[in-house]
Parts: sequence; structure tokens; C-alpha cells
Amino acid sequence: MFTLTTGTNHQRAAVRDWLAGLDAVSAETADRIVTAWVTSWACSVWDELHAIPFSANAPGYPLAKHVNEVTRAGQALMPRAEADWGVTLDPEIMLPILILHDVDKPLLSTPDGKSDLARRMPHGVVGAMLLRDLGFDQRIIETVATHATDAPFHGDTPEAHVLHYADLFAADHALRVQGATPFYRRG
Ligand SMILES: [Fe+2]
Ligand SMILES: [Fe+2]
Repeated sequence: MFTLTTGTNHQRAAVRDWLAGLDAVSAETADRIVTAWVTSWACSVWDELHAIPFSANAPGYPLAKHVNEVTRAGQALMPRAEADWGVTLDPEIMLPILILHDVDKPLLSTPDGKSDLARRMPHGVVGAMLLRDLGFDQRIIETVATHATDAPFHGDTPEAHVLHYADLFAADHALRVQGATPFYRRG
């Protein structure tokens, strides 16, 4: 499925240069986030990080772009959720959830469509296993495991709520610009 790797300096730099939000977490957490993405990328069939598609429904939209859109949308929602809901969102939990929610996607797709792994394991669950192997907090693991729109259920936490709307806000943009039907317009 995957083997944990810290990757090459080149791979780590490419991931660091791409990911939004690393400046909002501790250096240790940022490093672990980079290792998670490097592992998924290095164990995938993809040579070029920015060639990985967001989804089969929007093959021309880069996953890399979607991930940063989700992180930035989530960061915009965080202060609103805290002010309006009276909750506290720990950036050490919320940011890894946003940045890593789709970490398994490189492993689940190929230039020809779904990978074999994608026919055996659900999106989100593979990422959660990777994050568990890397020692991430249980709240991050659970939220990533259950975030997919077709997951059997979603977590009952403010973090899962914020991720859902940040993800769908960004996903619907990718679908719209690719001429696919966004979730908000489905019957
Ligand atoms: Fe996802
Ligand atoms: Fe997503």
C-alpha cells in the first residue's frame, strides 16, 4: 500500500514549496505533514506532483491546487467558527486535517484512472492509516478517515464540520471550472 519515507531533499522541498498552511503549525508538525505527503507521492505512480488530478470527474484540475484551496478556505472559516460557535480550534489539529485530508489521493489514482488500491480500499481510510503510522493525533486520523462525501458517516466535531465545508467549497469550484456538476447543484 505504502512504505513510510522521508524522501529526498528535492521531494521534501517540492512538497514544502507547494503546501499552504505549514507556517501555521509547529516545525515538528510541519515536518511530519511533509513526510506524509512525500510518502504518498513517492509510493505512487506519479513523477510530477502537480500532474496528480483532483478527481476523475475533474481530471484537468490539479490535486495540489485543491489541497491549498481547502487549507485556505478552512483557515478563513476557523475564526468564524470560533466567534460564532464559541468553540476553540487547535491549529495543531485543524491545520493537519485540512492539509492532509486528501493525502492518499496520489496512491488511489493513475494517469488512466483509479489505481488497483482504489478498488480495494476507500479514499480517506488509506490516508488515515498513513497518518496513524506517522503518529498523528487520533482526532486527525478519525476526521481524515471519515471525510469523504461517500463515507458511511462523518465525525460529530467542529473540526469535521469545518473540513467538510472547506473541502466542498473547493471541490465544487474544481468541478464547476471543469464542466462537471458541483455537489451543491446535485438533486
Ligand atoms: Fe477527499
Ligand atoms: Fe478534498
